[in-house]
Amino acid sequence: MPIPARALAVTLAAGALLALPGLWAGARAEPPSSEAIVEAFEAVLGPIRANRPSHAKGTCAAGHFTATPEGTRLSVAPVFNGQRVATIIRFGVGVGNPAGPDTGRTTRSLSIRFETPSGDTWDMANISAPIFGSPTPEALVAGLLARRPDPATGQPNPQAVAAFVAANPATTLQGRWLAATLLPASWATTPYWGVNAFRFQGTDGQVRHARWSFEPAAGTQRLTEEETRTKPANFLADELRQRVAQAPVEFDMVLQFAAPGDDVTNPTIAWPDDRPRAVVGRLAVTEVAPGPGGACDPISFLQLDMAPGVTYSDDPTLQARTGAYAVSLSRRLQ
Ligand code: HEM
Repeated sequence: MPIPARALAVTLAAGALLALPGLWAGARAEPPSSEAIVEAFEAVLGPIRANRPSHAKGTCAAGHFTATPEGTRLSVAPVFNGQRVATIIRFGVGVGNPAGPDTGRTTRSLSIRFETPSGDTWDMANISAPIFGSPTPEALVAGLLARRPDPATGQPNPQAVAAFVAANPATTLQGRWLAATLLPASWATTPYWGVNAFRFQGTDGQVRHARWSFEPAAGTQRLTEEETRTKPANFLADELRQRVAQAPVEFDMVLQFAAPGDDVTNPTIAWPDDRPRAVVGRLAVTEVAPGPGGACDPISFLQLDMAPGVTYSDDPTLQARTGAYAVSLSRRLQ
């Protein structure tokens, strides 16, 4: 799609957004509809045509996932039954413009569709930050609307943006984390977090709140500031292709379990590091598309339940994602 010039200046790291004070909070019983959410993205980026409004830049890949015995114990979902599960993967960059550079201070992403031998599918989209930029769908929408370009200047109104920040400090937490963290050196050398909490039902019948992350087998490696300044605009895809040509790129899927009192509904708050963890599976990336496009393009990586083994928590942003991703997909595939 032709991206309006103003969109070049707008990076939509999934959620690195600000929120309008009190625009929705308390004033509405109903959360914004899926259409209203997508229209708020369009108010900033222009009509959605062909590209995702968030993480517009990406590269398709493929591989497989195998649960550990601990994963089989902790979730009765088919994905965790220990058989090898095929995956369609998309690595992304948190920009609104598919031609944006790989060196922006935004999140990178790892999106996965699991396809079990028995025909079940499970989708997820993960980011290279442990927290999201909006505590609620209302804040996400209000933040987007506040960043609408002023028709007179083509730029967001700085006073409106400043007012968001002042009144909604939680919406600045992800941006602060990103500002304090060097960029990943490779799509293969950063952890990715699912951010939202889910309920996992184990073989013992217990249901536990957990968040997942994907930890790189190669370890975490980041660019220095100097390296960031000199990297080519599209270095991530080339680097990944070279890496996978040598050997599969692997990640451990790790669950972190909530303790009583941990907030399971607010994705801007990370749980303390001392919460119990379990390695529940290993993802291997074995192929990378040689160029743009591929099997990941028509997928929206909707956050799905895999009942009864993995089901939604009461996090309202999780609930909002499903419908919004579907509406966005339908607009970009028109
Ligand atoms: C209120 C909450 C959220 C809303 C309304 C929202 C909305 C969207 C939309 C509309 C898309 C484009 C979908 C498409 O066209 O295929 C998208 C993509 C994406 N979002 Fe979100 N999002 C939310 C929360 C999150 C969170 C918490 C994360 C962190 C894990 C996240 C990570 C991503 C990623 C990685 C993509 C790109 C997926 C891909 O590779 O196709 N989003 N989001």
